[in-house]
Amino acid sequence: MELNTDMAAHRTAASAHIAQATTLAELAEAEAEAIGRDSVVAAARRNLGTLPAEQRRVAGRLINEVATALTEAITTRRAVLAEAEERLALDADRTDVTLPGRTPEHGSLHVVRQVMDEIVDIFVSIGYSVATGPEAETDFYNFTALNMPATHPARMETDTLYLDYGDDPEGVLLRTHTSPMQARYMEQHPPPVHVVVPGRVFRRDPLDPTHSPVFHQVEGLAVAEGITIGDLKGTLAYFAKEFLGPDTEVKFIPHHFPFTEPSAEMYAYANGQWLELIGCGMVHPAVFEHVGYDPEQVTGFAFGMGADRMAMVRHGVTDLRHLFDPDVRTLRQYR
Ligand code: PHE
Repeated sequence: MELNTDMAAHRTAASAHIAQATTLAELAEAEAEAIGRDSVVAAARRNLGTLPAEQRRVAGRLINEVATALTEAITTRRAVLAEAEERLALDADRTDVTLPGRTPEHGSLHVVRQVMDEIVDIFVSIGYSVATGPEAETDFYNFTALNMPATHPARMETDTLYLDYGDDPEGVLLRTHTSPMQARYMEQHPPPVHVVVPGRVFRRDPLDPTHSPVFHQVEGLAVAEGITIGDLKGTLAYFAKEFLGPDTEVKFIPHHFPFTEPSAEMYAYANGQWLELIGCGMVHPAVFEHVGYDPEQVTGFAFGMGADRMAMVRHGVTDLRHLFDPDVRTLRQYR
């Protein structure tokens, strides 16, 4: 009987395709082929009506038997494939919590900034405030208020960079030191004053192992009733021991600055030699007069140090240009 062989062949072929389906999509194709609208099963059912009644029952049972068997095979296969696909999706989603973390690269402060912060911290720890001032400064604060009137020779000696601003060609400049903040700070604050001023300063110097047209200073100012040169020496010696180590020796050699009297350079013994580290002195009465302080009432001391130089001393660097090398491999050494 033709239907018998047709259905047997269909059952074998469709069963094989169902078993071979490896994805749910492939199984859907196998299902359409096995029992779908265009399948051999559907065609045989449509043909039932043309058969004589006694054959119709037998044929109907045979078709149903094949259809049921194929449907069961599809249901079983679908369960297997659905589970496999879910497992694949979960695997793809899995987070391996044992993997080492990916840490973003951290930047760090530049070595000169680190050393400036360290210097400032030492003074803050003994009660100093911190202030900053403008890098573009007027001739008045950079020179006149610091007892250097227009005719003063120190102005000729300083390699000042002037800015083309305003009517007076020499009225606005890049500050040559942080000392202008002495006058600015005293104008804004009555005594007593204890303040440090970190900042960038500028001079018309070519870049060489010990000079740079841009460098950094930390200024200090202490003003109150009864401050003496003993306070100056004690404070700066304390600073040197904090910065360079508790056994650090210091000495004060007379010097000249127009805005301090007497003036000195403090040397510290470090890295096997005497290093000239800090310019300092007792605030000149003329500076007090410019800011409205009474030099009969208060006295004080001021000091200024090069932060780049302190960084070189701290890290044993002999060429200043090394500090301004933009290569991160150089800078990383000082993290
Ligand atoms: N301003 C001086 C300089 O740049 C340093 C200094 C500051 C000296 C304060 C005395 C007092 O060299």
